[in-house]
Amino acid sequence: MTPSKHGRPRNRLLSWLVIAGTLSAATTAFAQTDPGPRGGGPGAGGALAGLNFDEMQFFRASRDAFNEVVSVSGTIAGEAGIGLGPRFNHNSCAACHAQPAVGGSSPAVNPQVAVATLRGAANTLPSFITPQGPARVARFVRNADGTPDGSVHDLFVITGRSDAPGCTLAQPDFAGELARNNVALRIPTPLFGLGLIEAVPDANLVAAVAAMSSLRASLGITGQFNRSANDNGISRFGWKAQDKSLVIFSGEAYLVEQGVTNEVFPNERDTDPGCVFNAGPEDATRLALTRDVSRGSAAAELSSDTVKFAMFMRLLAPPAPAQPTQGSRNGRQVFDTVGCQACHIPAQVTGPSRFAALDKVSFQPFSDFALHDMGSGLGDGVVQGKATGSQFRTAPLWGLGQRLFFLHDGRTTDLAAAIQAHASPGSEANQVIANYNSLAPQQKQDLLVFLRSL
Ligand code: HEC
Ligand code: HEC
Repeated sequence: MTPSKHGRPRNRLLSWLVIAGTLSAATTAFAQTDPGPRGGGPGAGGALAGLNFDEMQFFRASRDAFNEVVSVSGTIAGEAGIGLGPRFNHNSCAACHAQPAVGGSSPAVNPQVAVATLRGAANTLPSFITPQGPARVARFVRNADGTPDGSVHDLFVITGRSDAPGCTLAQPDFAGELARNNVALRIPTPLFGLGLIEAVPDANLVAAVAAMSSLRASLGITGQFNRSANDNGISRFGWKAQDKSLVIFSGEAYLVEQGVTNEVFPNERDTDPGCVFNAGPEDATRLALTRDVSRGSAAAELSSDTVKFAMFMRLLAPPAPAQPTQGSRNGRQVFDTVGCQACHIPAQVTGPSRFAALDKVSFQPFSDFALHDMGSGLGDGVVQGKATGSQFRTAPLWGLGQRLFFLHDGRTTDLAAAIQAHASPGSEANQVIANYNSLAPQQKQDLLVFLRSL
C-alpha cells in the first residue's frame, strides 16, 4: 500500500461511490452476511519461521508452561502449577486463549463454566457467562463510594475446593453490580504475532500514523497513543493499549486471571489469611537445575513461568491469511476506499531485534496501536493510563478469519454488526462508517469476505 494511493481520498471516494451506486441499482438488493469463521487448518499456533535451535527449544518449553493448569498448591494430579486464587477467572492461560489454536482468543465452548465448580468449588455463574458465549473478564467502573475503579474483579473464589480447606471468601455481587450498571466486560485478545508488535520501535508507530495524517484529517480521525507514565514509551497491549511489554502483561495476567503471585506482580490481591496457602512469589526464577535438560532448554528450566509466557507469545507466528480470491481482493479495495485503513493501518515494521525472526520485519497487523474515541456505543467508562472511558486501541484485524467473538466485550459474533458498532455519538469512526453504509451490497459483502480472509 503506497501513501500516494490515498491522495485526495474524498474525491476518489465520491466518484467511486457514484459508479458503485449505479451498478448496485441494477442488482437486486440483498443483506450482506458475515461468511463466518473460515474452515481449514488454524494457520496459527506455531513458532515464527526461522528460529534457531535454542529459540525453538525455549518456545516449546514455554508453550508447555502456557498450557499448564494451576491448582491451589500444585498438589492435584494434572494441575501441577502452584498458586490458584484466592480469586481467579481461570486456571490456565490456554483455557481463554484457545481459538483457533493455543494462543488464540475465546473458544466456542466457554471454559469458565466448568472451572466455576471444579474440585468442589461452588461458584455461581454471573449472567454474562454462558456456555456458548465468550470467556469474559469483568471490571467495575466505579467503587461503592462513586470514585473511579476500573480494575478487574475476578469471577470466582477457591472456596469449597478440596485443595483450599477453611477458605470462606465470597464471590463479588455481580447481579448487584450489573443492576447498578457498573460492569465493563472484556474478552481475550489473540496472542499470535505479539513479538512482532513488541518489536516495533515507537518511532515507527509514530511514522505510520504520520503517513496517514491527511487521510485521517479528511475523515475526522484523531487518536493518541497510550504511553506509560515513567518512560513515556508507547504501550500497545490490551484493548486500551494499557500494557507496555509481554513480560508485564504475563505477570499481570498470571496474578489477575489465575491469582498466581510472581516476580512482576509479587503480592496477592486478596490477603484473606484463611485463603492464602503458599509463600510468595508463587512463581519465581529457579536457582538451580534439578533435572537433565540436555534435550530441552536450560534457559526455560530456570526461567519463571512469567518469563516463559512472554517468550511463548514473543515467538508465536502471526496468523496466516487465506489465499486471496477475487472477492477478497475487491474487499481489500473497499477497505482502503472507505477509510478503514486510516486506523487499521495495514503494515508495521519492527526495529533491529536480537531474534533474527523479529529483526526489521514488515508485517500486517491492520492496526495503528493507537487509541481512538469510539463514542458512547462502545465506551465502557474505564480509564487506563491515557485511555479515556470511550477510547480503545484499534483492534488488530489479523486472524479475524477464524475468530468467533468480536469487540472488546464480545457483544457480537457477526462481523457486519462489529462494523456498525463503530458508529455512535462521539465516535471518530463515524465518517468511515457513513462511507461504508453508502456502499453497494456487493461491496459490503466483498469487504466481509476480505476480513474473513485475514
Ligand atoms: C479468564 C480468561 C483469561 C485467562 C485465563 C488469561 N487471559 Fe490473557 N486476556 C484475557 C482478556 C479478557 C484479555 C484482554 C484484557 C484487557 O485488555 O482488558 C487478555 C489479554 C491478554 C494479552 C494482551 C494481548 C494483546 O493483544 O494486546 C496478553 C499478552 C495475555 N492476555 C496473556 C495472558 C497470559 C500469559 C495468561 C496466563 C498467565 C493469560 N493471558 C490468561 C483473558 C484471559
Ligand atoms: C477511528 C478508528 C477506526 C476506524 C476508522 C475503523 N476502526 Fe475498526 N476498530 C477500531 C477500534 C478502536 C476497535 C476496537 C473497538 C472495541 O472493541 O470497542 C475496532 C474494532 C474492529 C473490529 C473488531 C475486531 C475485534 O478484535 O473484535 C473489526 C472487525 C473492525 N474494527 C473492522 C473495521 C472496518 C471494516 C472498518 C472500516 C469500515 C473499521 N474497522 C474502521 C478503530 C477503527
